[in-house]
Amino acid sequence: MKRVAVLVSGRGSNLQALLDAKQDAYKIALVISNVPEVEGLARARAAGVEALTIDHKRFGKDRELFEREIDAALRTHKIDIVALAGFMRVLTPFFVRAWAGRLVNIHPSLLPKYPGMNTHARALEAGDAEHGATVHLVVEEVDAGDILGQSSMPIEPDDTPETLAQRVLALEHKLYPQCLAKLAASIP
Ligand code: GAR
Repeated sequence: MKRVAVLVSGRGSNLQALLDAKQDAYKIALVISNVPEVEGLARARAAGVEALTIDHKRFGKDRELFEREIDAALRTHKIDIVALAGFMRVLTPFFVRAWAGRLVNIHPSLLPKYPGMNTHARALEAGDAEHGATVHLVVEEVDAGDILGQSSMPIEPDDTPETLAQRVLALEHKLYPQCLAKLAASIP
C-alpha cells in the first residue's frame, strides 16, 4: 500500500472522496494545508489522519523555503505519492523535480483545454459541447503533465458556471480515487 499525502487549501471535498474510496492500493497518511483551519484539515482529523498547516504566508516571497518545509514533512511521514486536491499554490521546480512521477493534481477542465482558473466560465464562453475533469502528473508548466485520466459530460443549454462546477465536482470525486489507485499500483 502506497502512503499518500494530500495537499489542500480549502473545502477538501476531493480529499474526502480519496478518503472514502474503497480500494487497497493507497492509504492517506498525511494531509497538509497551506491555509489554517480549513474544512480539509477537519475532514482529515475526522478520518483519523494526521493534518498539518504549513502557512505559505510565514515564508513571504520565498516559495522554495515553504516547499522545503512541506518536503521535510513528507519525508518524515515516509510518503510515496503527493496528491494535490484544491491546493492553490503553484509549485516551484525544486518541488516538482523532487516528486516527479509521484505528484498528481486534479483540474476542473478537459486538459489541455483551460489550464489555470475560471475553467467553467471559459468552457461556457467558448460554446463547448462538453466539459469535465482531468487527473494529471504535475510538471513545471502549470496543468500540463501526462494525463492519467479524464471524465467528461455534456454542457446543457441552461448551464451556468455554478451548475457546471457542481456537476464537474461529482465527476472529480469518482475520477480521482480511480486514477490515484491506478498510479499507486503502477509505481515501485
Ligand atoms: C476542485 O474543483 C479542483 O478540481 C479545483 O479546486 C476544487 C477544489 O475543491 N482545483 C483547481 O482548480 C486546481 N487548479 P475541493 O477542495 O472541494 O476538493
